[in-house]
Amino acid sequence: MEPVTYVLFGATGDLAKRKIYPALFNLFIDRKLPQAFSLIGLGRREHTDASFRAHVAQSLQQFSRRQAEDAAQVEQFLQAFQYCVFNIGHQEDYRKLLGMVEHREQQLQMSPNRLFYLSVGPEFFGTIAANIQESGLGSAAGWKRLVIEKPFGHDLQSARELNEKLSKAFAEDEIFRIDHYLGKPMVQRLEALQQTNPVIQALWNNRYIANVQITANETVGVEERAGYYDHVGAVRDMFQNHMLQLLMMVAIQLPHKSHSEQVREKKKRVMEALEPLQRQDVGTYVVRGQYGAGSIQGKQVDPYRSEPGISSDSMNDTFIAAKLEIDDYFWRGVPFYIRTGKRMHEKSTRIVVEFKEPLKHSLPPEEQHVLPNLLIVEMSPGESITLRMNTKDNDTGQFSPIHIDLHPNYGEQPEAYENLIHDALRGDSTFFAHWDEVELSWAWVQPILDAFRENEVPLHHYAAGSYGPVQSSQLLERDGFHWWFDKPEASSPANGQETDARSVQQSEAKEGEHYAYNINR
Ligand code: BG6
Repeated sequence: MEPVTYVLFGATGDLAKRKIYPALFNLFIDRKLPQAFSLIGLGRREHTDASFRAHVAQSLQQFSRRQAEDAAQVEQFLQAFQYCVFNIGHQEDYRKLLGMVEHREQQLQMSPNRLFYLSVGPEFFGTIAANIQESGLGSAAGWKRLVIEKPFGHDLQSARELNEKLSKAFAEDEIFRIDHYLGKPMVQRLEALQQTNPVIQALWNNRYIANVQITANETVGVEERAGYYDHVGAVRDMFQNHMLQLLMMVAIQLPHKSHSEQVREKKKRVMEALEPLQRQDVGTYVVRGQYGAGSIQGKQVDPYRSEPGISSDSMNDTFIAAKLEIDDYFWRGVPFYIRTGKRMHEKSTRIVVEFKEPLKHSLPPEEQHVLPNLLIVEMSPGESITLRMNTKDNDTGQFSPIHIDLHPNYGEQPEAYENLIHDALRGDSTFFAHWDEVELSWAWVQPILDAFRENEVPLHHYAAGSYGPVQSSQLLERDGFHWWFDKPEASSPANGQETDARSVQQSEAKEGEHYAYNINR
């Protein structure tokens, strides 16, 4: 791997502590860092190199998935770390930084390849990029890369403005936009699942697939992030980025051994083919929810509006479900249902592909309870890929589903940040969000943002610990489908009484086996 100077803005912040240092350390253990590697941490807080290294060492103890073999190993890792007190708005600090970077490069005889990692609020992205350019930090003979994290803007216009600022200092192929969902091992495996299995590949289209369901539910609430979350809601926090990225990763059709340019092009095509949503249709295809009081794993929790820092009349969305359609040759007529929410019944990130049942109607009535085939990709908390098929018990004549595991036990997996930082160091942008996708995603959600802002669609309250508002189930029921694996008992009455009372009745009316969920047997 080529030598790299890793310039980390926000080196004393939370993300660095929880994710970046542990990821770098695990890459170091796996010998996946460049031989010539230097990290310069920047922050407002006073630190010497020694106290900074102690801060990093502590974060490893607290957050690394693997602990050091001995003190010497951590010592060796930390040799690469230096610190510089830094004010993002001061141009002279960038010149001071340049001196430090050049000195280090000469000391270690490294080519001047520089990776600028912005672990700071998005409001600083533009200033930092401009100063990197003006100070000469970005004009050395080696390569330069910029790594940033969502949010990439607040809406379509602000995203465009931000991109314009960044692109004055960095070319598109130098910008690595992290969407940590793309770093999840199971998301990265989706591509291979399709490419290396002709069986799956042959079925991956509207001839055989009835619908696709993408769920990212969390049990946590707003936590200490009220100031941020109350302005963004589930639509900006999860839907515009993570959920639409998952949709793209499911829907792209890739040739074997595709490279990052092809992935970018195919994802862009999926987004371009997404049926645009008209503002007046948001109420029909999108469900907005907010959690009320309830209980999660037996513990009573407060409603969103009583959370610290949230106003008692907040109209912010903590849940969103939507129906989307891709108007292309492969997917025309296949609904994609997407939902994500906080304070839900369980933490679960999963994709369910439901196959059509062409034979069902040719079966005699007593045999028509045969269940559709499903491909279930679990991403969190467990990781698995399972194909559900049907079999027949010859004694009873009953059909019953069997589950086929399509994966070995992968053992402990690297964290998303390890994969992504490693890719950024190597210059592989396959699993990063490209500008075209980001812009098209914002364009697709813009009518939702407008309709939510003006309260043109209802805000449905759901009980904490449930599966969200009943309207989310109705989104599918209208089309003759239902969310797979929602357990009826989890639809406890919510504050919006009507909402959840109906949900319980509907759930109970369902065939029990539709909900029987035990794929991890
Ligand atoms: C982040 C959101 O991007 O993703 C958080 O800002 C959310 O609100 C988190 O909790 C979920 O990530 P994961 O990997 O736990 O599903």
